[in-house]
Amino acid sequence: MEGVTDLPMRTFQTSLPGYTHCVTEFLRISHNVLPKKCYPRHANELNHNAKTPSGIPVHFQLLGGNPQLLAASASLAVERGAKNIDINFGCPAPTVNKRDGGATILQYPDRIESILKEIRSAIGTKASLSAKIRLGWENKTDVFETVNRVAKAGADWVTIHARTKAQGYQPPVDWELIGKIKKEFSFPVVANGDIWNFSDFLRCREITGCEHFMVGRGGLANPHLANRIARELGIKIQELNDFPNSTEWKNYILDFIKISQSVSNNPNYTLSRVKQWLGYLCLRYPFAHYQTIKRIQNIDDLISLLPDIQFSTIHEKHSSS
Ligand SMILES: Cc1cc2nc3c(=O)[nH]c(=O)nc-3n(C[C@H](O)[C@H](O)[C@H](O)COP(=O)(O)O)c2cc1C
Repeated sequence: MEGVTDLPMRTFQTSLPGYTHCVTEFLRISHNVLPKKCYPRHANELNHNAKTPSGIPVHFQLLGGNPQLLAASASLAVERGAKNIDINFGCPAPTVNKRDGGATILQYPDRIESILKEIRSAIGTKASLSAKIRLGWENKTDVFETVNRVAKAGADWVTIHARTKAQGYQPPVDWELIGKIKKEFSFPVVANGDIWNFSDFLRCREITGCEHFMVGRGGLANPHLANRIARELGIKIQELNDFPNSTEWKNYILDFIKISQSVSNNPNYTLSRVKQWLGYLCLRYPFAHYQTIKRIQNIDDLISLLPDIQFSTIHEKHSSS
């Protein structure tokens, strides 16, 4: 997630048992192939066998519309250590779409195929290749043709955010349509969109029939969500409680601050990232102290305030979708 799942957040989130892999923010390839040094700058994990410090694989996401530039960039990323290349055909941001990237390409299925084909032929079998898509630009049944092209191009799987670009992040997600795709294609599908809690996951699994799931915002709002889901999927990991207790939240925030400070000495960066993260918590759970936290001007004040903050009154605010 652009501006969210950067190195410190990936490091923190994967330090808890649950995620089987994570994905970088997108790296945009517009007019030039980026030089080799840019790839580990985007994902420091490339210097460490494409794994986070806890050993969880990191997939490298590219965004753009030019097959040759994307293929050459993917090739360099793989030379620098990437083990998976994920192509973003889902970003709905107007600035990205105006420059021929993200969800805009969903309008041209032949371009999706030629982009993925070109990348596949450039990287061969040295890395896996996946596509991240939405259901369509405006029309959600376009997803059938898109998935057909993704599969035909030789990608290894597709992750489907069950909304159109026109929907942005508005409800509802259409997990039923993912279920239809799953039935129609013998191609691996990762279901994504609005899995905010364990019961959402159970419904998503029931409706889509999928075996693979991606959580974004739900994993930020509840850092234990991936653990609960992974255990349900039969992955043998240490069990965490369903939602962090107050002490765990405080420890997690301190851990995240430490990680963030180790990669950036800009104190505002760490403070704004903590606020951003707790903003995702507030999207779903009542957290009265957020108003106080939002007004804090420096990270040391936040650290001093932490012992007085209660994270204990957390119950789901809304039922999902
Ligand atoms: C702030 C923000 C940034 C995002 N950036 C990316 C991105 O860089 N690449 C990507 O594939 N998806 C990105 N997404 C979409 C998410 O990966 C995901 O598909 C979407 O949030 C729906 O899943 P969720 O309900 O589990 O969050 C972003 C979403 C948000 C809210």
